[in-house]
Amino acid sequence: MKRRNFLLGAGAAVIGGGLLARPGDHGAPYDAYFSALNQELKKNGPMRPCLVIDLDRMDRNLDLVTATLKGAGKNYRIVEKSLPSPKLIDYISKRSGSRRLMSFHQPFLNDDAVLFPDADLLLGKPLPVRSAELFYKNHKGPFDPSRQLQWLNDTPERVQEYLELARGLGTRLRINIELDVGLHRGGVSNNAMLGQMLDLIAANPQQLEFAGFMGYDAHVGFGVPPILGTPQELLAKAMGEYQGYVDFVRSQYPRLWRDDLTLNAGGSPSYPLHDQEKTSSEISTGTALLKPTHYDIATLTKHVPAVFIATPVIKAVGPIEIPALDGKSRIVSWWDVNQRDLYYIYGGFWRAEYESPKGLQFNPILGVSANQENVSGSPATGLKVNDQVFMRPEIVEGVLLQFGDLVAMRGGKIVDYWPPLSA
Ligand SMILES: Cc1ncc(COP(=O)(O)O)c(C=O)c1O
Repeated sequence: MKRRNFLLGAGAAVIGGGLLARPGDHGAPYDAYFSALNQELKKNGPMRPCLVIDLDRMDRNLDLVTATLKGAGKNYRIVEKSLPSPKLIDYISKRSGSRRLMSFHQPFLNDDAVLFPDADLLLGKPLPVRSAELFYKNHKGPFDPSRQLQWLNDTPERVQEYLELARGLGTRLRINIELDVGLHRGGVSNNAMLGQMLDLIAANPQQLEFAGFMGYDAHVGFGVPPILGTPQELLAKAMGEYQGYVDFVRSQYPRLWRDDLTLNAGGSPSYPLHDQEKTSSEISTGTALLKPTHYDIATLTKHVPAVFIATPVIKAVGPIEIPALDGKSRIVSWWDVNQRDLYYIYGGFWRAEYESPKGLQFNPILGVSANQENVSGSPATGLKVNDQVFMRPEIVEGVLLQFGDLVAMRGGKIVDYWPPLSA
């Protein structure tokens, strides 16, 4: 199609098909909160893409978690993969009084053992036995794995592998057993399977010790179609299954039972509902402290977003111009006021949603870039070069490792820089 015909066609489609749908103005300037953050980052910030942790907001979320769990008589376990910075973890540990950490990555596990020598560490996923071996090879310092570390095992085969590792190392490994309580992400799903694992543990007391259960229940808070169950019903079902496994150990393996076993459950989506059950002894939560967008869910309505990607505007180029269409592409910015001002930001291509100023959007016609991404908005945003664009990440695990030192802020001011763990 010739360019003129293309433009005429595009214009006709826009006008003919869209008179009813012409976009309204979604733009609005920073509110007072983001205006203060913008001023501070422009004056004292790194002026490159960074992750801002708002400590006032995180405190509020953390205090909700600790108050709920305290009221329920349960311990709190900090999820390291969602908060992977030693200073961040230390801060949360001190404020919550928890020394319990859930780890998911062998290099981080080694770091945890050195940085938090009095921690109680539980793996959140079963690591290949070779990873476990590497942990022991690299381990140094006073942290005592035979007392302070629980490996997660999901199958009889893995218990057998860990048994052989323990024999080779001449040490005793504490084994926590993963339960499938409805998420169906693996783990024990019947008593016969559990019995095989406990038989192996019971038969090898010099090498293996039963340390408890882990039953993660994200499906409870993330929800399923309502016809299949409310979060409360799903939690009751999950914890009914959990209790069944507890009863099985108590009745069939009384010598393995101890009242201080770790009976871990939860996850951010379900933690507020766990005050309804008496089976678990502790709840793991990490992401709820920061509340990225995927956690805008019914169970976390009291939580507030406490993490933002902030990045400076590098260029303000005016109305959008599509390469090769050049000035003729003005029809786009004429049609859609939200595309009237085009900007390029420092970095991009993140899994995140624009937060402030309001009404910013990405234009796929101009292509993606992790170096300088396009973003457009209406004049109502008031955005200028060197201002910050604020985004909310979709999730935090992995994301907190991508931006260098986390920028800790309080009362709208930068108070510290917290390096992330490095893999
Ligand atoms: C075993 C386990 N427990 C707890 C969690 C909860 O982590 P968060 O609260 O950060 O979502 C997860 C997350 O994947 C998990 O895998």
